[in-house]
Amino acid sequence: MKSTAAVILAAGRGTRMKSDVPKVLQHLQSRPLLSFTLEALKGADIDKKIIVVGYKDEAVKSVFPNIETVVQDKLLGSGDAVKRTKNLLASFRGDIVVLYGDTPFIRASTIKKLIKKHRSEKASCTLLSAIMPEPAGYGRILRDADKNIVKIIEDADASIYEKVIEEINVGCYCFNREDLFSSLDRLKMNMKKKEYYLTDLIEALRKSGKKVASVLSNDSHEALGINSKIDLAYANKIARERVLELLMLKGVTIVDPGSTFVDKDAKIGKDTVIHPHTVIEGSVVVGKNCQIGPFAKIRKNTCIADSVEIGNFVELVRTKVSSGTKIKHMTYLGDAEVGKNVNIGAGTITANYDGKNKSKTTIEDGSFIGAGSIFIAPVKVGRAAIVGAGSVVTKGKDVPAGKTVTGIPAKIYDKGRKR
Ligand code: UD1
Ligand code: MG
Repeated sequence: MKSTAAVILAAGRGTRMKSDVPKVLQHLQSRPLLSFTLEALKGADIDKKIIVVGYKDEAVKSVFPNIETVVQDKLLGSGDAVKRTKNLLASFRGDIVVLYGDTPFIRASTIKKLIKKHRSEKASCTLLSAIMPEPAGYGRILRDADKNIVKIIEDADASIYEKVIEEINVGCYCFNREDLFSSLDRLKMNMKKKEYYLTDLIEALRKSGKKVASVLSNDSHEALGINSKIDLAYANKIARERVLELLMLKGVTIVDPGSTFVDKDAKIGKDTVIHPHTVIEGSVVVGKNCQIGPFAKIRKNTCIADSVEIGNFVELVRTKVSSGTKIKHMTYLGDAEVGKNVNIGAGTITANYDGKNKSKTTIEDGSFIGAGSIFIAPVKVGRAAIVGAGSVVTKGKDVPAGKTVTGIPAKIYDKGRKR
């Protein structure tokens, strides 16, 4: 089968972001924008990837160290950016997919569809278009009476008649390699913007008798180009809704999707209820039949087993909670391992960080932790032990299984005698 290379344009400043951070490194769902396009490419049978970097190129490269890059030293537009890859692709003999680093919702299946159509139509260029009810800002697709694509007209250059066209250029193309580079060599600068527009290739190819085909996306979100912080907030909302919808389809109850934030890498079991104002960040696993929130914050590398209750103002990070355990009010557990059927009283805190190192707190099965307890890690509470309310269990002073400790520092309380 013919091979495919992908060129991802990520050199732009993102002027409309009004930020010192390059646009492709702006965060969407706690990840750099560019990682979404790269993720889609993973599932699209691509043999070679090149990122065109420019503005703060070192910063972008350091986030994606394993992907080949080429530097566009002067930001002379998307056409010029693709031209920078000519040498790297000199010996490449397949088709070339060009995408922008600011369109995070492109799907792998769409890229595959685009490549397939390109080959079956034997086109010179196949582009992805979409219907946008509010097309302002996008390049519009101009077609003739036979519906053949004639050109792409950029928003800034469009007449009032062209501005009402709802079919837009998503910014994802499959090119025949030879046609791409030979027409790029002849591309003229847009004098208004002083840039070489990649989109001007379409008219040039048509004029030289080459075939331009298209695939229409059936998902308007897929076409979203992120240019400003307003676009970014809207994209975050869509990304969040997509994750929540998938969870709901798998049997998770989300009481208030509008106030619930769940990372796309999180896994949640069926019949678990996520109450309002809950934030689940990073690679978190939650089992079945749990109650989470309201106002819970579950952070990375936390694993919660089945039938666990996590209540309001509880924060967990790098923590493992076994089944049947209750942590219901105002608690912080960091680097903790909590066994089965443990009751963690209101206001329990693990002091897991001593300013230099993070240490572990272990609370074994069936223990009962009184309200307001503090654990100075590293420390361990044995099976079925009891920690009296307000105790401070100090570093290394492990609580033996079945014993009760109380006080500051916590000491064994047994038949009225203290250690
Ligand atoms: C572009 C398209 C427009 C399309 C829209 C879809 C052009 C001329 N216009 O407009 O038709 O509807 O995307 O979102 O292509 N870049 C470089 N080097 C440069 C300039 C840009 O690498 O010199 C990169 C940017 O980092 C970005 C991408 O190209 O990832 C697109 O640039 P952007 O300025 O966002 O173009 P739009 O105005 O959105
Ligand atoms: Mg853009």
